[in-house]
This record gives sequence, C-alpha cells and structure tokens, in this order.
Amino acid sequence: MGGLTNFALGILAAILAGLYQSNVHFVLYTGVRLFLGVGHTLEPLSAFPAYKCRRIEDERLQACEDMWLSEATRQLFLACSSPKGRHQWSPNGAIFNASGRSLTDHVAVLDIDEPEGAGFTTRVLETPGYPGTHGDGTLNLVGMSGHDDDDDGEVRLWLIDAKPSVDPATGRVLEDQAAAGGNQTVEVFRTTGGRKAKGLAHLDSFSHPLIMTPNRVAAVGDDTNAFWITNDLGHSESRWKRNISPIFSQGSVAHCSSSDPQTCTAAIPSGLSWPNGLVQNHHDGRLYVPSSMLGTIDVYAPAKNGSLHVKVDTVDVGYSLDNLMVDKDGDVWAAVFPVAKDLGAAFDDPYGSHGIAAAAMRIRKVPNGGGYEVDKVLEDGFGEVLPMTTSVVHDATTGRLFFSSEFPFLFHLKVPCSQ
Ligand SMILES: *[C@@H]1O[C@H](CO)[C@@H](O)[C@H](O)[C@H]1NC(C)=O
Ligand SMILES: *[C@@H]1O[C@H](CO)[C@@H](O)[C@H](O)[C@H]1NC(C)=O
Ligand SMILES: *[C@@H]1O[C@H](CO)[C@@H](O)[C@H](O)[C@H]1NC(C)=O
Repeated sequence: MGGLTNFALGILAAILAGLYQSNVHFVLYTGVRLFLGVGHTLEPLSAFPAYKCRRIEDERLQACEDMWLSEATRQLFLACSSPKGRHQWSPNGAIFNASGRSLTDHVAVLDIDEPEGAGFTTRVLETPGYPGTHGDGTLNLVGMSGHDDDDDGEVRLWLIDAKPSVDPATGRVLEDQAAAGGNQTVEVFRTTGGRKAKGLAHLDSFSHPLIMTPNRVAAVGDDTNAFWITNDLGHSESRWKRNISPIFSQGSVAHCSSSDPQTCTAAIPSGLSWPNGLVQNHHDGRLYVPSSMLGTIDVYAPAKNGSLHVKVDTVDVGYSLDNLMVDKDGDVWAAVFPVAKDLGAAFDDPYGSHGIAAAAMRIRKVPNGGGYEVDKVLEDGFGEVLPMTTSVVHDATTGRLFFSSEFPFLFHLKVPCSQ
C-alpha cells in the first residue's frame, strides 16, 4: 500500500513547486483520476453470479496484507498483523510511533484443501531463534514471497520486516524513528514440519541502503536466496524526497542475493511511480512491476545478474494496483482499488464499515505476440462481502479466489470465493 499522507503531501508539493514538467503533469493527472476512481463503473457482487463469497472470521487472520500460495503443498501463507498496530507504525506511510507497533505479527498458514468450519485448517507458524528487533523475536510484516523447494514440502519464504531502528550501543528502540526511517530488512525462512508447516527456521537476513521503502519481495528461487524488491517511495535517505516520490517517480527496484558476498544492486535505480507488489512469472521468466499511481504494469526481461534494463511491455490496467500474483497457468492476478481515495477512511477507522470497493483483475498473455488480455473477473463495488483488498490469489486447480487485506476489518479478513 504505502501512505495516503505521502500522496497528499506529494500533490501539494507538486502544486506548490509550480512544476510543469510533462511527465510530472501526466503522473499527477493519471494519479488523481485513479485516486478518485474517474471512469470506473462500480459493479456489485451480484453481477458475477459464478462466484459465491464468504468471509472467514478468524482472529489469527487479521490485517494480512499479503499472501503466497504454495502449489506443491497446497498451503496458503499469509503475512498478518494487528489493526491497531498498523495505525501507529507504518514506516512507508510515514507513521512512526514505534511504541504503538504490533508485537504479535505472524505468518499464518491455511491448508486450502482441508475445510474446517467456515474456513480451513489454520496454523500460526512459530519463528524460534529469529532475533526480531534486538532480540525481542517480533516481526513487522508487510509483503511476502515464497518458493517451493523440494518434494518433501519444504517452502522458503521471504518476508519484509519493517523494524524500528535501535541504538546499536544500548539496543534500545530509538525515540526519533522518523529521522532514521525505521530499519527495514528482508528475512528469509524455511518451513519446518514437512507439507503441513509447523514453524519457520531463519536462514538469511538482508539489510542494505537499497532496501529503504520496501513494499513487496519477488523471490528468484535460486540457492543464493536472491530476490527483487520494490521501494515504493524510492531509496533516498531524505524523508522529504521519499514523500514526493510518487509524483516525481523516484520509486526503484533493488536486486539482492547472498552469492558471496551478500549484496544488493539497483536493478531499476529510479523512475517508477509508486511501484507496488511486484512478482516474477516463472512461466515466462519475466518480472511484472505494477504502479499504484499510473495503473500500469511494466514487464521486464531480467538479466542473469538481476538487472532490469530490458523493458519488454507496459500493460495498462486502468486501476490503482496493489499486489500481483501468478497462478499455476501463468496468468497474473491483481488486487485493485476501484476508488483509491476511500482507503483513507478504512485506515483511520479500521473497525468501521465503509463499503469500500474491491476488485480482482486478470492479466493474461495472448499467444504469438498478441499482447495482453485484461479482465475484471470479480468486483464487490459496494464492499458488501470483500473488505477492500490488497492481495488476491487464484487457485487455478479449483477456480477459487482468496482475498486478503492489509486493512483491519475485525475477523473479516479472508474471503474465499468459489465457482
Ligand atoms: C503511540 O502509541 C502508544 C501505545 O499504543 C500510545 O499510547 C500513544 O498515544 C501513541 N502516540 C501517538 C502520538 O499517537
Ligand atoms: C537493522 O536490522 C539488522 C538486522 O536485524 C540489524 O543487524 C541492525 O543492527 C539494525 N540496525 C538498526 C540501526 O537498528
Ligand atoms: C548486468 O548485466 C547486464 C548485461 O546482461 C549489464 O549491462 C549490466 O551492466 C550488469 N550489471 C551489473 C551491476 O553488473
């Protein structure tokens, strides 16, 4: 997601500066249209009779911004938090009250072929031995990615841990987090317990100046734990520059790996406007990078070293985009915000009912260079069942869709729809 405060500040900054560079003008124009939902016809769930939707009400499945489906083990992993915590601590949204942050963030896992009650068999994964913030063992979860490693059902997960910064001498959490911008790292884990994961063993930690405002991880899946991340507000040390980043397209993508020595490089040094939940499509090897500001997906052909200087396509989806997922057949699925401006109300009053629109878009490559087909597969234009959602997973095996949300609608966080 990222901060609406930043968005407002950015608009203000652009107007005050009186800048009229054509690109800034275009970004602003497009961003405002998507923000307001101009030109979007909201359709109710009843317009999609093939889908029946219900909420899974489970305390363990709150404020789960991101998900990842393990096709090999049929487990759906979720990065969950707490509604209140997000409102106090959200470094990319320039919210820096570290003492109010959630201390209970966790990875939850659902066995999606094992219905139980209104939901599915659900576990919370322990992370024994993970130091967290200076030894407290906590996680501060945002985006995630995963990889099916072998036939024994082991899965590797990449998690963004948006930690507060600590004083290296004393280990105390610093008072002025805004100055430091928090301490965001990417942490790699492997599941334990076979095909029914019980816990997460910590494998690797990435801390680097190019991991500054991480939004989402896209795992490569090789044995160096390599991945790309989007910095949705760029990777400048300057808070001011980060705030105006969506308008001035300072967003970036970094590529990191633990090939000796561990390192990160700027795969796309800047030029992206609020890049969000990127994903690698293992069917065509390409990296799909969505823009929340422009409603487009840039498609890159990655070089061996992770560099992304070859852009092969730009797909215009026409909606403000959040996380992308790839299903078993290679189709890309996007959770979109039909009226992005409504998100602010949900953020400020997480337990209220806001009737916020949610939709799932499918982006399918047409064979033989025929471009891309973009379809709205499901919309809850009046927020009847789906809370506004940040991720959608398509289980191509059964045709089900799973929606989850960063936003904290109490007990109403996960919604499976089945055909
Ligand atoms: C920060 O969080 C703490 C703990 O939840 C709370 O008591 C305090 O009022 C918050 N401070 C601000 C400025 O919101
Ligand atoms: C940031 O996190 C890393 C990894 O946990 C840790 O080694 C480092 O000391 C932290 N830095 C600060 C300033 O908190
Ligand atoms: C990565 O490889 C590409 C060519 O494949 C090259 O142009 C680029 O300079 C390389 N980047 C780094 C950081 O080595």
